[in-house]
Amino acid sequence: MDLTGIRVSITQRCNLNCIYCHREGCEGAGELPLDYFSSLMSICPSYGIKKLKITGGEPLMREDLEEIVRIGAKWMDEVSMTTNGTLLSQEKSRSLSRAGLNRINVSLDSFDGDLYRKITSGKIRVSKIIENLKKASEFFDSIKINMVLLKNVNESEIPDMIRFSKDNGCILQLIELQPLYSSEFDNLFLDLSEIEEMLSSKATRINVRKMQNRKKYFIDGAEVEVVKPMHNSEFCRNCRRIRVTSDGKIKPCLMRNDNLVDGLTAFQINGLGGLEKALREGINRRKPFWSSEYDRYIGQKTQLEKSKS
Ligand code: 5AD
Repeated sequence: MDLTGIRVSITQRCNLNCIYCHREGCEGAGELPLDYFSSLMSICPSYGIKKLKITGGEPLMREDLEEIVRIGAKWMDEVSMTTNGTLLSQEKSRSLSRAGLNRINVSLDSFDGDLYRKITSGKIRVSKIIENLKKASEFFDSIKINMVLLKNVNESEIPDMIRFSKDNGCILQLIELQPLYSSEFDNLFLDLSEIEEMLSSKATRINVRKMQNRKKYFIDGAEVEVVKPMHNSEFCRNCRRIRVTSDGKIKPCLMRNDNLVDGLTAFQINGLGGLEKALREGINRRKPFWSSEYDRYIGQKTQLEKSKS
């Protein structure tokens, strides 16, 4: 499947420490060098890659974020960023939009101050994020709110989130919790099927995006997307992305760390040619993590684990 997008983690630093964070599948504490990023962007269009998503850590921890966006915008049709919103002042939104940032995703799992602090293990007040988010709306083409669903923790807030998103012209993304290890988060994992039933009973229209087989529900003027990557072979079959970790490794799949290609070392030793070879290798190594065979394998393993206990 042809590539269209690249997700680049520019730092591992973050001012929050969310209980579920998968750190974009990155290990180690890298800070992506600017010259490497710039060279990477310059070769992406020849592989069909025209969309950049900037991730972290928290991208706003980097002081040169505007420069990163500017470089991205020079080569890409679209530049977006995932942020926790805590540092997204009105000035920042303005300068980032001027630098060429088109879209943002803001993580917001709860409106409840105590719960928000518990989930994020931080000291930042949720009202700050809401304030920043409202101000950001005048600067970007689209804002998506990322709400990761945690069983018996925040699912009761879905109706409020839908209302808030609609009132502020945002799209709500309900995201299924993704464990990186097999039994991690067992007690927090919420199967989104029931939520989808509720959404479809209320929706006046439902669209299915080919990319990752995502459903979008239109409910009284609100737009709600559901992101369900787990055991979803359609999600993987339609993946058109490659990733780069904050320490410069080309990463073919979020779920795996055993097939990375060290693009940064290749770049430092052999320049642009080395990087190009590494990117090509990374692209060649892409294959669906959740395929129907793998699902069967996981199913058998789960049965085995059950019979042991
Ligand atoms: N499961 C699902 N989504 C996650 N994110 C981070 N960790 C996880 C996880 N374990 C996503 C959320 C968050 C963004 C920064 O990364 O969408 O908003």
